[in-house]
Amino acid sequence: MRQELVVVLDFGGGNNQLIARRIRELSVFSEMVPHDISYEELQAKNPDALILSGEPISATPTCDERIFSLGIPILGIGYGMQWMASKLGGTVKAAGRYEYGRSQLHIKQEDKLFENVGTELEVWIPDGDPIQTLPEGFQLTAATDSCAVAAMSDEQRKFYGVQFYPEMKDTPVGQKILANFLFQVCKLKGDWNLRDFIDESIEDIRQQVGAKKVLCALSGGVDSSVAATLVHKAVGDQLICVYVDHGLMRKGESEEIVTTFEKKLGINLVFVDAKERFLSRLVGIRDPEQKRKIIGETFIRVFEEEAAKLGQIDYLVQGTIYPDVVESGTKTAQTIKSHHNVGGLPEDMQFELIEPLRLLFKDEVRAIGEELGIPPELVWRQPFPGPGLGVRVLEEVTAEKVRILQEADYIVREEIARAGLDEEIWQYFAVLPPIRSVGVKDGARTYAYPIIIRAVKSEDAMSAEWAHIPYEVLDRMACRIVKEVNGVNRVAYDITSKPPGTIEWE
Ligand code: XMP
Repeated sequence: MRQELVVVLDFGGGNNQLIARRIRELSVFSEMVPHDISYEELQAKNPDALILSGEPISATPTCDERIFSLGIPILGIGYGMQWMASKLGGTVKAAGRYEYGRSQLHIKQEDKLFENVGTELEVWIPDGDPIQTLPEGFQLTAATDSCAVAAMSDEQRKFYGVQFYPEMKDTPVGQKILANFLFQVCKLKGDWNLRDFIDESIEDIRQQVGAKKVLCALSGGVDSSVAATLVHKAVGDQLICVYVDHGLMRKGESEEIVTTFEKKLGINLVFVDAKERFLSRLVGIRDPEQKRKIIGETFIRVFEEEAAKLGQIDYLVQGTIYPDVVESGTKTAQTIKSHHNVGGLPEDMQFELIEPLRLLFKDEVRAIGEELGIPPELVWRQPFPGPGLGVRVLEEVTAEKVRILQEADYIVREEIARAGLDEEIWQYFAVLPPIRSVGVKDGARTYAYPIIIRAVKSEDAMSAEWAHIPYEVLDRMACRIVKEVNGVNRVAYDITSKPPGTIEWE
């Protein structure tokens, strides 16, 4: 049976993937594609509906106008609505970038999109009025005090446009509006679920791999663990998992990973101790991007060597998830950081990649992990970057700095767990900056490193708020760190959210 599909055409900006995610939360499979996808390629996907969205950083992106003759419903959001209005004969003042804010939306005309949502809505909307006149066939459906054309529709052709962002949390009825689009306008059934996704992925992996051997780059994090378990279910012993200890793991972590995989999941592991190799390649390297690239590349080289020892291997499994793909730079999103499992891959890599989680968000990956029976301590493990402590020891990485950071980080984790905060905080860890400051201990002057504590709350790592950890807990961490960790004389707490900060410091 053909699966329902809503395609999101990405006109730029960082939030469009949220739309795909919200649609999937409503049990309809959704995928985001670049705005300049060829018409033929788009047609071949045979979508049930299109969503045009974006907030172009520069220029005014466009897509093939034949989409209007596909005969399927289209929802334009923000710039997507402006683009749609201008192409269908409306007048648009200046399609482009606006300041956003919360505003009151007055519904003027209840169409299918606004069915049963009320008449006054709080929305996240650009402060401006880009659309001057409606295209023929459209009716005005909503306005705000500063935006006269905040929503429009042509119910005959099933074309809808909204200037506000239904996918944002600041638009509380946004999900209901998206549901109206899917179920009232498009008449979809909502036939997508994670169980089907698992079954299809397993089938796809079997087809792709055949009788060949697959190597899995296991990091011990939830993403690569779920990817490995999926592949293990698909091809069993054709999968060989390799765990590379790059020496940049948290205290005790490597031992835990080996136990979980071998004892609890029954997956055989090849353990590679590459601590020295990574450290020696990082000597004198201070630039964060260069560090990430070196760590990523060294990873692949180690895998290639292991593969050579194991005979002919054709595939490499990676736990790449959607935010990794987006943040490493798509055609329209700017590169923020090269996540080591995407942007850091060397071009001459010899494996073909299997990335079954490439389209998913973290919470979807966790749900799949639970469905696959992976132990909860692994499924709910806090996210940990591929380059590990290599991006938390800022600038140059040395064995001594890694030791300091591991000990401080262990204390942070212990105190968070002791305070019962480990489930509500998304990520909590220590960072070691490349500076020293003067302090005093036992009556003597010290000149040592500070430790920065970072703890954030997040849903998907795309945005995050700094966690309001109680003072007593911060106090206990700080006292213990300066007392127990040799080489540290000061502790600071990072109170920056994302954006403008990122979760990691590098
Ligand atoms: P940032 O620092 O960009 O991080 O706000 C977002 C999330 O991604 C994790 N992260 C990585 N994960 N490889 C990974 O697998 C990487 O290179 C990488 N860099 C950051 C980070 O811990 C956070 O959860």
